[in-house]
Amino acid sequence: MAFTYRNGELCAEQLSLGEIARRFGTPCYVYSRAAIESAYAEYSRTLAGHDAIVCYSVKANPNLAVLALMAKLGAGFDIVSGGELARVLAAGGDPRKTLFSGVGKTENEIEQALQANVLCINLESEPELERVNAVAGRLGKRAPVAFRVNPDVDAKTHPYISTGLKQNKFGVAHDDAERLYAAAVRLANIEIRGIGCHIGSQLTDPAPLVEAAARIVALTARLEAAGIPIGHIDLGGGIGIRYRDETPQPIARFVAGALAALEGHRARLILDPGRSIVGNAGLLLTRVEYVKPGPARSFLVVDAAMNDLMRPALYDAWHAVNAVHEPSPGARPTTYDVVGPICESGDFLAKERPLVAGAGDLLAVMSAGAYGMSMSSNYNSRPRAAEVLVDGADAHLVRRREAVQDLFALERILP
Ligand code: LLP
Repeated sequence: MAFTYRNGELCAEQLSLGEIARRFGTPCYVYSRAAIESAYAEYSRTLAGHDAIVCYSVKANPNLAVLALMAKLGAGFDIVSGGELARVLAAGGDPRKTLFSGVGKTENEIEQALQANVLCINLESEPELERVNAVAGRLGKRAPVAFRVNPDVDAKTHPYISTGLKQNKFGVAHDDAERLYAAAVRLANIEIRGIGCHIGSQLTDPAPLVEAAARIVALTARLEAAGIPIGHIDLGGGIGIRYRDETPQPIARFVAGALAALEGHRARLILDPGRSIVGNAGLLLTRVEYVKPGPARSFLVVDAAMNDLMRPALYDAWHAVNAVHEPSPGARPTTYDVVGPICESGDFLAKERPLVAGAGDLLAVMSAGAYGMSMSSNYNSRPRAAEVLVDGADAHLVRRREAVQDLFALERILP
């Protein structure tokens, strides 16, 4: 386990969080290298012997140290912007194992991707097909592409992170796919590589993923019958983790379902997981500034806020909050809302939690390794948190805390 209590204190691998707070300050994201490696290993173990690659979804946690670790493990990458491509390249990732997804790629981003020789550009509309063809022509290249097809499958997850239904902005309509592939093969600067889908995030049951896979496989068979070879099938990411009391099926179960759906086809399987690799490998370490009792609610005002971890405010997401120092056996917990200093009622990290904590105490907001730092902002001119990667008994600062001066370094006052 990445985060466990030892001698009454919560530790990241072999290092106490108290020690990490002393060295690096709070708020601070803390990641466990072993936890990241073991989640990735579950994918690679199950995929061993199959023609398959895992393209880690950079948006979940794009820290260069995390990307470099994934590259070292042999992963490819799933990116959605020129910025993420630059990060992958800076971290030593292999562009030939990198997929470029997203509904709004600019000409400039398409050019960067083609110059870098990415594995595949996942197209999400007909105008995008035309744009990619034009950019590739200008560069004298053939663009490797796949269509992201919307399989119209209900992922049964939070509506904000469900992406595979007809009403979502993502992908091309299932019924349009054959026409679009037929149009794509006729274009001079396009080379068809595969097909893809991604139905949503935080799935706890493989059934919707397997159903989507079956629809994509059937479509692939029709495309191939029409003479369009499909080299790979990308089933996206989306495998869920346990935040509270969810009981997500193990990664291996999802992967086995995907492999079974593809059985008998020669197409290579691609998966692009994010959350299931880094989500439970990270926490947000924060310190209580004030205990504020109130007539209706009592609050622990902490030094982390919605700008550091936006998920509770944005999705009403539930993250476990643990006191770093285990309370003494007789201590009676009080029910608190854990809130930050930002001027918004939505600025909370947790609500109605029984906790034993006082001013100055450390709290750990769990399951914050995915979509934590990557969705953070500088709202209220708050410098973003430091990030620390723990490896055994060593802690490495992998992103220094922002200084206030960093926040306005790009601004200027008119003369
Ligand atoms: N592939 C594609 C095409 C995606 O759009 C996504 C995530 C992934 C892979 C990775 O999905 P994962 O394995 O992490 O579920 N901010 C939200 C999650 C948004 C996910 C967006 N797409 C959250 O904090 O829950």
